[in-house]
Amino acid sequence: MAIYFEKETKTFFLEGKNISYIFGINFTGFPEHYYFGERIGRDELSYTYEANIGDSGEAAIPGEIHAGGKSYNVYRSEFSFYGNGEFRECSFQMMFKNGSRLNDFRYETHEILAEKPALAGLPSMRGGETLKLTLKDMNSEMRVHLFYTVYDDAAVVARHMEVENRTGEPVKILRAYSFALDVYGNNHDLLTIENAWAREGKPERTPIPHGFICVDEKSASSTRRHSPAFALLNKDTTEEHGAALGVNLIYSASFTLKAEVSSKGYTRLTGGINDFDFTWELPAGETFTTPEAVLAYSGEGVGGMSREYHDAYRAHLINPRFVKAHRPVVINSWEAVYFGCTPDRLLPIIDAVSGTGIDTFVLDDGWFGARRNDRAGLGDWVVSPEVFPEGLAPVIDYVHGAGMKFGIWFEPEMVNPDSDLFRAHPDWAISVPGTEPCVSRRQLVLDITRTDVRDYVVEAVSKILRENKIDYVKWDFNRALTENFSRALPAENQQEMHHRYALGLYDICQRLVGGFPNIFFEGCAGGGGRFDPAILYYFPQIWASDDTDAYMRTQIQYGTSLFYPLSAISCHTSICPNHQTSRTVPFKTRADIAHLGATGYELDTTKITPEELEEVKVQVAEYKEMEDLVLNGDLYRLENTFDSNYFAMQIVSKDKAKAHITAMRALCRPNDEHKRIFPRGLDKKAVYEVVNNEYDLCLRLSGAAIMNVGLVLPLKTADGKMPGDFRTFTFRITKVE
Ligand code: DGJ
Repeated sequence: MAIYFEKETKTFFLEGKNISYIFGINFTGFPEHYYFGERIGRDELSYTYEANIGDSGEAAIPGEIHAGGKSYNVYRSEFSFYGNGEFRECSFQMMFKNGSRLNDFRYETHEILAEKPALAGLPSMRGGETLKLTLKDMNSEMRVHLFYTVYDDAAVVARHMEVENRTGEPVKILRAYSFALDVYGNNHDLLTIENAWAREGKPERTPIPHGFICVDEKSASSTRRHSPAFALLNKDTTEEHGAALGVNLIYSASFTLKAEVSSKGYTRLTGGINDFDFTWELPAGETFTTPEAVLAYSGEGVGGMSREYHDAYRAHLINPRFVKAHRPVVINSWEAVYFGCTPDRLLPIIDAVSGTGIDTFVLDDGWFGARRNDRAGLGDWVVSPEVFPEGLAPVIDYVHGAGMKFGIWFEPEMVNPDSDLFRAHPDWAISVPGTEPCVSRRQLVLDITRTDVRDYVVEAVSKILRENKIDYVKWDFNRALTENFSRALPAENQQEMHHRYALGLYDICQRLVGGFPNIFFEGCAGGGGRFDPAILYYFPQIWASDDTDAYMRTQIQYGTSLFYPLSAISCHTSICPNHQTSRTVPFKTRADIAHLGATGYELDTTKITPEELEEVKVQVAEYKEMEDLVLNGDLYRLENTFDSNYFAMQIVSKDKAKAHITAMRALCRPNDEHKRIFPRGLDKKAVYEVVNNEYDLCLRLSGAAIMNVGLVLPLKTADGKMPGDFRTFTFRITKVE
């Protein structure tokens, strides 16, 4: 990795693993984007300037009209601001005390830093050589600092911006996105991800017209409707081939991401904190820091881009203490007993799994206060004497005695109106005075922009963690924010609320994760309502969806894996008929699909047959055998159930010595096509053994044969029967020569 500044041409060359990101300071002092893609040399790229004033009617640069200057509207910007002829979506806008919103930022100075400075109050990628580029407003003493970080083991560029007010007077930020760049070409597709409860992670690919496409969240959660992620694709880019330029925000609240095609043949990508219903007062002398955006490039299609993100996040984002360590294989109480989590129901469930290899019991919702259903008790983090008359200790000791770890559920950001907490502090719940607050799942959101509320939350959760031997925490967040309002903020600061909520959340996470470094945290938000890199910074895995139906999970996990490594995606085997879809799929299928992530179980294990319990043993053993691939491997998505009757994912070890494939035929059809899947990422010259015990299959094939000829999905079971619907086929591939 290297960051290099060529003085003569005023060009910055940022070089990460296999990538170059290049921009220059043009003759007006404005940073212009040249290139982001496959690694190239340090060529002089200013020949790509088009000295073109722009269309008639477009303004030129102030003071430069006679100097051959061109309009801001045609600059290929690294940062952009409204005014002076810039009519595209800009990445920054502010208001001075006199109401003016006019800026004109130009290069002032830069520094190359060996290590990226931490972002104030925000999670970000760790480490990496960093360029800090400072631009000064020609109209004032405002500064913006653009940060770029590169890594030698990841094909990503991490970017954020800091806005510094040196004017001596307060100013108002109206928009402060994390990044902007104008990519050459006006004929791209945009890959975005649509989310809905129990249907998270649906990829959508669409051409970008002139004008712009925007995905956003206004709910102060990151993934209730859209994900803070998208990818710019060439028309011919596929899962395996072609250019894919990804963007992912390390942010958990209301965001926006935009792609805009201009008339000059460029596509502008920009985004960050959603500026809808957002302003930020920046007092004199203070600095505002945006969340970080992670830009990735791969020439190996969408799959290549995913692998770059997976490597980057495993190496530089997720807690290094846990990222590569064995993940708890849990038995979770939620779908087993829902709110009925009494010891007499739980202990038999724990007994049943003893000896299966399941190593962690997680006590989900319902253990505290008056929380016997979702109507009451949220916020009262005291063990319910009604449910656990002797406290949690006997259950925890029981779990530990069975050789398992103990996990517990919290929803720290919420309160039921019917709770002691709400009765004592009604003003701690978010609401606008004189109005009825919006209730969702019978709960309100705590105003964690306030320090007193944060202190309560941290202490209430810490007390339980201190007083009990807890190894694991599941952190839930079941509703969106509906009122963008804090009783603690003055009127002129109200539109800061959503961002302050994110900062409050990160403060709580930092204090709890930092205060209990041995506890493993899992994120959750009514399923996958807040699945983003910021949460992953604190919690190494996130519950991807409340939908545990294996068929739906093939889609949800497929979409989630576009940006996040399998080890980040929490997946459970549950009972059938499935509680969300009423679908019945084979027990083995449920486990095989759950094993393509941080696996676990979530069912009443006293209600399954002894044969199924025996199967659990085999399943967990199989998972443990493939766990190193889930934690560290390269992911190849081979088949996609959104488009076809098939699903297949393959994980390959970095040294290509070992691979695992799980494939599924959704509907079984008589006299069906002879379906093959085409593995990837193997060593062409090596010889591998390909094993599927269920189908008595053991082949010895070269990597080249496996990848080019493909593997056949059996049409009949080993004893000659039709396999039935939703049957999985797993292949263990081991290098033997
Ligand atoms: C929503 C989560 O996604 C579920 O797994 C479960 O924890 C419930 N909340 C509990 O209320």
